[in-house]
Amino acid sequence: MARLRLGVLISGHGSNLQALIDANLKRDFGAEVALVVSNQSDAYGLARARDAGLAAALISHRDYRTRDEFDAALDDALNAEGVELVCLAGFMRVLGTGFVERWKNRLINIHPSLLPAFKGLDVHRRVIAAGVRLSGCTVHYVRAEIDNGPIIVQGAVPVLAGDTAETLEARVHEIEHQCYPLAVDLIAKGRVQIEGECVRLLDVRDARGRLINPAPGDPKPA
Ligand code: GRF
Repeated sequence: MARLRLGVLISGHGSNLQALIDANLKRDFGAEVALVVSNQSDAYGLARARDAGLAAALISHRDYRTRDEFDAALDDALNAEGVELVCLAGFMRVLGTGFVERWKNRLINIHPSLLPAFKGLDVHRRVIAAGVRLSGCTVHYVRAEIDNGPIIVQGAVPVLAGDTAETLEARVHEIEHQCYPLAVDLIAKGRVQIEGECVRLLDVRDARGRLINPAPGDPKPA
């Protein structure tokens, strides 16, 4: 079966891009990275893309007079590679509403908190300051309002006594690298249904075969 063609937008380190590249190597993964775009010339993720032999483009927002022109350049690059799903992976530019509408339900993001808690920047420091016991990550469809949109997959990690923003970030990154490929694979395999502004997962099971996100009529676990 043809794999879903991904366009991955990055600005920096690209460890989530790497997780998608690594997932690519698995035979049953439903997607492939068709294009990597960075808006920063020094993004390490660009080197990761080149090392993996992937098409990579630098599209710097500094080269465009307006957000719309920058967004249009992104559109052109993504369409030229036949991208079907755009994955934001540490992409540090706000996309215009036109771009978000054009890619509606074909544009996803990963955020390093359990949304809708802790939207925005400087997440791990704020999580620790709030004294919450759990943090994690969220993969969600993108809507015009930042860090908002139907939630596809979340992964939770504990916040430990003595954590710093750096130690918590490292723990969250580990779960991100599982959640992003999982969310992409579920979309590629048609297991993600958007109902209103929520997602329903269709026939997705945990390691013990139990349904995740069951509906009222689904069979009860044995
Ligand atoms: C991740 O923590 C992601 O949740 C956030 O930006 C960070 C990107 O990290 N949106 P990396 O560049 O993938 O390593």
